[in-house]
Amino acid sequence: MNVFVVGISGAVGGLLERELTSRGDVVSGLVRLDDQRAHFAARGVAVRVGDIGVLSADALAAMLRGVDVLVYTAGSNGGSRRVTNAVDGDGVVTALEAARLAGGSRFALVSVLPEAWRQRALDDDAEHYFAVKKLTDVAVTLSDLDWLILRPSMLVDRPGTGRIALGPAQPHDEIPREDVAATLAELLHEPRIRRQILELTQGETPIATAVRAVIR
Ligand SMILES: NC(=O)c1ccc[n+]([C@@H]2O[C@H](COP(=O)([O-])OP(=O)(O)OC[C@H]3O[C@@H](n4cnc5c(N)ncnc54)[C@H](OP(=O)(O)O)[C@@H]3O)[C@@H](O)[C@H]2O)c1
Repeated sequence: MNVFVVGISGAVGGLLERELTSRGDVVSGLVRLDDQRAHFAARGVAVRVGDIGVLSADALAAMLRGVDVLVYTAGSNGGSRRVTNAVDGDGVVTALEAARLAGGSRFALVSVLPEAWRQRALDDDAEHYFAVKKLTDVAVTLSDLDWLILRPSMLVDRPGTGRIALGPAQPHDEIPREDVAATLAELLHEPRIRRQILELTQGETPIATAVRAVIR
C-alpha cells in the first residue's frame, strides 16, 4: 500500500510512518522544512516540502501520483485562530480536493473527540479549535471519497499497550500516541472499513480484534 501522510513530521504521523514502513507499505508525506526532508531521506523515506496552509489542491495532487491512501494528521493543536483555520480547517479541504483530483485515493483524517475537555473552562481559541475540527469532520463526511475519520481522546506519550476501545462513540479519556498510530495502520489495512467515524481511547481489546469488530 502506498500512503501519503500530511503531518508525517508530527508525533502521530512519525509513529504511523514507522508502523506502516515496518508492515512493508511505501510511505511518503508532506513536511514544511528541508531539514525535515533530509531527516526522512536518511531513513529512506521520500517526503515533499510544502505548507498545507498555502499549497493549492493542484500542487498537492501532483504529489499524490500512485498514492492509495492520504492520511491527514496535521493539526495546530489549538492556538491562534488563523493557524487553526488554515491547518485544521482549510488544509483538510485542500487535501480532500487534491485526493479527488489525483484519482480518488482513500482519505483518513485524525480528528478529535468533539466533547473533549467539557469539564474545563476552555478559552475562546480552544472552543474555536473544536468548532473547526467538527466542521472539518462534516466536510469529510460529505465528500465522495472513501473516507475514514478517527477521533482519538487525549493523546499521551507513554508507551502503547496494544489494547484499545474503538467504536462510533467512546468516552473522552487518554490514549497513547503509539496506540493511535498502530490502530490507524490496522484500519488502513482493512478496506472494508470505509465511510465511518470511529472514536478511540485506551481500553482492554487488542487492536486487531477491536478493528475487526467495527467492520460493517
Ligand atoms: N493533543 C491531543 O490531545 C489531541 C487529541 C485528539 C486529536 N488530536 C489531533 O491529532 C492530530 C495529531 O496530533 P500530534 O500530537 O501528532 O500533533 P503534532 O505532533 O503537533 O503534529 C502536527 C503535525 O502537523 C504538521 N503541520 C502543522 N502545520 C502545518 C502546515 N501548515 N503545513 C504542513 N504541516 C503542518 C506539523 O508539522 P511541523 O513538524 O512542521 O510542525 C506536524 O507534522 C492533530 O490533528 C491533533 O489536532 C490531538
